[in-house]
Amino acid sequence: MASEEPIIRVDHVSRDFQVGSETIHALRDVDFGVKRGEFVAVIGRSGSGKTTLLNMIAGLDRPSVGRVVVDGREVSAMNESQLTQLRRRTIGFVFQSFGLLPLLSAYENIEVALRIAGAGASERTRRTGEVLDLVGLRRRANHRPYELSGGEQQRVAIARALANKPAIILADEPTGELDSTTAAQIFQLLVDVVRSENVTILTTTHDRMVMERAQRVLELSDGVLLAEPRLLERPETRQPVTAPWSPRSITPAGPRETMPVDEDEDWDRWRPQQRPQRGIYQPPGSPREPL
Ligand SMILES: Nc1ncnc2c1ncn2[C@@H]1O[C@H](COP(=O)(O)OP(=O)(O)O)[C@@H](O)[C@H]1O
Ligand SMILES: [Mg+2]
Repeated sequence: MASEEPIIRVDHVSRDFQVGSETIHALRDVDFGVKRGEFVAVIGRSGSGKTTLLNMIAGLDRPSVGRVVVDGREVSAMNESQLTQLRRRTIGFVFQSFGLLPLLSAYENIEVALRIAGAGASERTRRTGEVLDLVGLRRRANHRPYELSGGEQQRVAIARALANKPAIILADEPTGELDSTTAAQIFQLLVDVVRSENVTILTTTHDRMVMERAQRVLELSDGVLLAEPRLLERPETRQPVTAPWSPRSITPAGPRETMPVDEDEDWDRWRPQQRPQRGIYQPPGSPREPL
């Protein structure tokens, strides 16, 4: 039986940023663990500290106070080369804006991650094919990002994140730029890979559907991890409402004035979203730059 030791341990972490004479408390004594194979969503309004938290876990930033332990090793104490190894082998990333290299095909975007991690040629070919199959994009292998829809680009990014068989995937608002149908498909894909690849996922999200279907939801509010998530509650069960409710799961019953009006940009997220622009199609095999 594997130990019950959490694969991610965030141990009383605070992170302060000094901006001029002001100190911003981005995280305040945040303390939690994530078990191996769990799918956890971190929610919270814009500026609540979600990205800062993921950065701590990935070793992209260090706590002002406290420590982070990933897979039994203290990230907050690692040197640069240990952190590089952690990010290459233990942690895969998925970003809201996909983060694909525009001149590389889907295949090459994935393969380059394996190349950086030092995989041999035959292993790269095998694993790239495998993860392309996993995300259902084998037939799009030779397409560049601009020849793919937003959902397809995010699938490539997920395949790339999985390429090195990481123990953990950290995803920062992975469905934030996708329409609701595509977001649901991407979310389902993440649920599937938790099972098939035995990976642990920690994702930040504004997406109700993600929060409702995650195994566990953690809510940050002004850098504080709340004991109970508030944003999950529905307007009819709690007033006043502070959440950016998604119109696809909740139809406003009354006039707009009775609905929450956030002072920040969160409402804009629920307006119909434009699909990311698609480029002009070029058939696979058209000339492109070598790697
Ligand atoms: N590098 C930084 N320098 C100064 N302030 C920062 C920095 N990174 C984040 N912050 C601040 O920390 C708070 C949390 O930010 P962030 O983690 O990006 O929130 P979220 O991802 O929930 O929107 C915000 O007030 C933000 O302005
Ligand atoms: Mg963020």
